[in-house]
Amino acid sequence: MRPTDEQYCLGVESTADDFGVGIATFKGEILANASSGYIPEEGGIHPREAARHHAEAADKVLEEAFQKTGIKPRNLSIIAFSQGPGLGPCLRTGATVARALASYLNIPLVGVNHSIAHIEIGKLATGAQDPVTLYVSGGNTMVTAYDCGKYRVFGETLDIALGNCLDVFAREAGLKHRKGLPLGAALEQLAAKGGKLVPLPYLVKGMDLSLSGLLTAATTALRNDSYKLEDLCYSLQENAFSMVTEVTERALAHTEKKEVLLTGGVAANKRLQSMLAVIAEEHDARFSVVPREFATDNGAMIAWTGVLAYTHGVITPIDESYVKLRWRVEKVDVPWLK
Ligand code: ATP
Ligand code: FE2
Repeated sequence: MRPTDEQYCLGVESTADDFGVGIATFKGEILANASSGYIPEEGGIHPREAARHHAEAADKVLEEAFQKTGIKPRNLSIIAFSQGPGLGPCLRTGATVARALASYLNIPLVGVNHSIAHIEIGKLATGAQDPVTLYVSGGNTMVTAYDCGKYRVFGETLDIALGNCLDVFAREAGLKHRKGLPLGAALEQLAAKGGKLVPLPYLVKGMDLSLSGLLTAATTALRNDSYKLEDLCYSLQENAFSMVTEVTERALAHTEKKEVLLTGGVAANKRLQSMLAVIAEEHDARFSVVPREFATDNGAMIAWTGVLAYTHGVITPIDESYVKLRWRVEKVDVPWLK
């Protein structure tokens, strides 16, 4: 039995293809992290289809989270939800679930920025305090660090996200997304068998980077059948990962922080981890990687960031709980870091 005086936050995640529910204690223990993923039959995510999946999966995922912990809805103190950024129909489905729960239980609602949740769960799970963070996922690619009341973006992609770049190429190459093996992971397995560097674009502009030219060149080379697929996968990874690593290193040199954190779905990639470990060591910084269970989208990260926000005065009234499709990290107050 858990002590009855403990406080719990339930977090709802639904920005893209996963519907997740996590339960965290106010002390930072993650008790549940249940989810259901939408896998399109072919092609990328269709927002309305994904939202339909979330609506259908919601009760099952909620039940799983409650069952695992033995916690009852009446034991919850707050409900947190991913308010953005993300896909409109998906975000709205999660927000509706969260509003319904908070209203029914008559407890506060807390809107959480999804990108910041990826950073905060990485910090909680690894013990990092004040890192330069590389957040790389299907929809985001950015280097951030805390400064003067906000997470600041030091560099980001000018076009597509790193995970998206890997996924589109993997799909072109005929790889299939399976449960437990995301496209990026399937590509990683092939890349590990390659080793010959194929000439491909490398585009860093100031502190930002561009991946769409690299993707086009790699896809064209694939269609022309001029190289071994393993070598193309290897080269795509080498170029893309070197770009994000270069930007992270410059942010590290500029901020003189002593920690580097890798988070988001692409953080599971061993080659990317090894590149970042090298630059961290060169700058005497501690390198940490978010654990795999918290790397891709999950409800636990929303629950935990909800706790941080709520315990520092943040509440989202229902009539201000509309979703924010392009909610940038530097627009978010992070009073728990002041
Ligand atoms: P958002 O961009 O909003 O954070 P998302 O759903 O796209 O959302 P995540 O769930 O964090 O993001 O990450 C999914 C991405 O991670 C996909 O592009 C997937 O291919 C990639 N990924 C997962 N495992 C690996 C791996 N081992 N190597 C490379 N990429 C990976
Ligand atoms: Fe995400």
